[in-house]
Amino acid sequence: MKKQSVLQKTRVYVQKVLRGDSSGHDFSHTERVAKLALHIAQIEGKGDVFIIELAALLHDISDWKFAGGDENAGPKKAEEWLLSLSVPDDIMRSVATIIREVSFKGAGVPTKPGSPEGMIVQDADRLDAMGAIGIARAFAFGGKTERAMHTPSIRPKLHASFLEYKKSKSSTINHFYEKLLLLRPLMNTKTAKKIAGKRHIILKNYLQEFMNEWNMKA
Ligand code: ADP
Ligand code: NI
Repeated sequence: MKKQSVLQKTRVYVQKVLRGDSSGHDFSHTERVAKLALHIAQIEGKGDVFIIELAALLHDISDWKFAGGDENAGPKKAEEWLLSLSVPDDIMRSVATIIREVSFKGAGVPTKPGSPEGMIVQDADRLDAMGAIGIARAFAFGGKTERAMHTPSIRPKLHASFLEYKKSKSSTINHFYEKLLLLRPLMNTKTAKKIAGKRHIILKNYLQEFMNEWNMKA
């Protein structure tokens, strides 16, 4: 099957799988990650664009956050899909590896992907957790998973292991300190670092305003 047909069929498949999502992991997230990743790849002049686009499209079809904590569910589902399209084994494995590597796993847990394609998809996914859309996604996710917006009595925690991070039920505001504000220096590519700079400032300004209003200073 031609690469363009594989991509088109995958888009339709992912759209169907993610239909109705209200946690910030909907098809529009997937599309933004794919577009951003291709943009980064083009500017950096790195990575196989077929693998990048496939991995970006498939990276959230069965995220551990919704698959009962199972980190293998996503890569496995992507492999099954690509197998059904007779995509060559090496490409299928590369895509599954990227999906396994891409996710944030806690402040103290290193997650640098092993390939340029993985680094680019990870950067794009993380950029979509920052800035104005990142803020919207964080509160959508928080609402969906029954987290409080803000509980000042509970301090943010820098999780040292994936298990600890997975189990955490912290507030959405704490999530800013536990993940979102830590992302800028973790970007793998120069292109993403530049975009992250702007989005980081949006997060900081937003938090400042949130705290002002919370404390009735504004
Ligand atoms: P990752 O796999 O790196 O977590 P995703 O594409 O799955 O990336 O994005 C996770 C999204 O869910 C982000 O927008 C993030 O802000 C949100 N999220 C994850 N955990 C929390 C939390 N505890 N509180 C609020 N939002 C969260
Ligand atoms: Ni994602």
